[in-house]
Amino acid sequence: MKRSIFLSLFLLTALSLAAQQTKPRVIILATGGTIAGSAAGSTQASYTPGVISIDNIIATVPDLKSVADLKGIQICNISSQNMEPAIWLRLFNVIDSLFSNNLCDGVVITHGTDTMEETAYFLNLTVKHRRPVVLTGSMRPSTSLSADGPFNLFNAVSLAASPQAGGRGVMVTMNDYIFSADDVTKLNTVNTMAFGSPNLGPLGYMRDGKPTFYRESLSKHTFNSEFDIKGLNSLPEVEIILSYAFASNIALKALIDAGVKGVVIAGVGHGNYNRDIAGELEWGYARGVRFVRSTRIVTGGVDMAAEEFDSKYPVSFLKSPQKARILLMLALTKTNRSGEIQRIFEEY
Ligand code: DGL
Repeated sequence: MKRSIFLSLFLLTALSLAAQQTKPRVIILATGGTIAGSAAGSTQASYTPGVISIDNIIATVPDLKSVADLKGIQICNISSQNMEPAIWLRLFNVIDSLFSNNLCDGVVITHGTDTMEETAYFLNLTVKHRRPVVLTGSMRPSTSLSADGPFNLFNAVSLAASPQAGGRGVMVTMNDYIFSADDVTKLNTVNTMAFGSPNLGPLGYMRDGKPTFYRESLSKHTFNSEFDIKGLNSLPEVEIILSYAFASNIALKALIDAGVKGVVIAGVGHGNYNRDIAGELEWGYARGVRFVRSTRIVTGGVDMAAEEFDSKYPVSFLKSPQKARILLMLALTKTNRSGEIQRIFEEY
């Protein structure tokens, strides 16, 4: 009798230890934003982003403990309109080190929604690992009557812990949807359904803490990216100019004079710009500045069948101006040749 009790106790202990060890290891890198925001009242619209620590945020979602073996690291606590290259490079180095040393199975980044798509895309092009990196945030502060942050965080940790998430590139999950870093963008300034992928749609959705995928991103990313930024402590300066009726070339001229390495033209229609801008492009190109044609239009993109296509100025295909800027930054760490930059825009 005693022997069978001992044996069943031993088995129970072994099983519970095994269960503990089989929980995926997820690390949350916190950068701030509304998910870390606080307001005086639970129903008021105004609030202060980037004030609550990641440990306090994790404490608001007790269910996370059943999903993963979790740890939070506070990278910074900012409103994401103040994102900086140094924070991008820090995020890259921390994630690369965590994965290279097998210190976790997945990473979640909590982030302000204003520039979340840009941080996600930068990491999508530079983190050369298959393990999942998932960004999330919220449109309402944590003190809100029905804050969206806790459930977004639960979904993000569940996705990062999921065996199905590896190899799909950096992802964003907001409001139960899963988006690719490659084409996700913020489409609404206030609504909790603020994100979308207007050209290609979401990758899938989260339900009961499990992902369902409908598609994969066909653009190069993460483990098959050619960009190696290890050791970099700055990024080439690339800016964006917006086109509109009778836009002047003053801003473009000032950027060229300031010595930027690249400029993305957010053109009208199919990446078009006026003659004054065209004149400055010629002058800037001669001075070594490299230009990419994108568009202010949200869907359809810009291809080479443009009205005035010039091979000196590569086209961004479906990349928004803000993402074309990031891809041009990284392209310029490798080349200054327009043909090679166009090849990169065709593949990423
Ligand atoms: N200041 C904005 C930011 O940090 C708040 C928006 C948000 O996080 O939802 O991106």
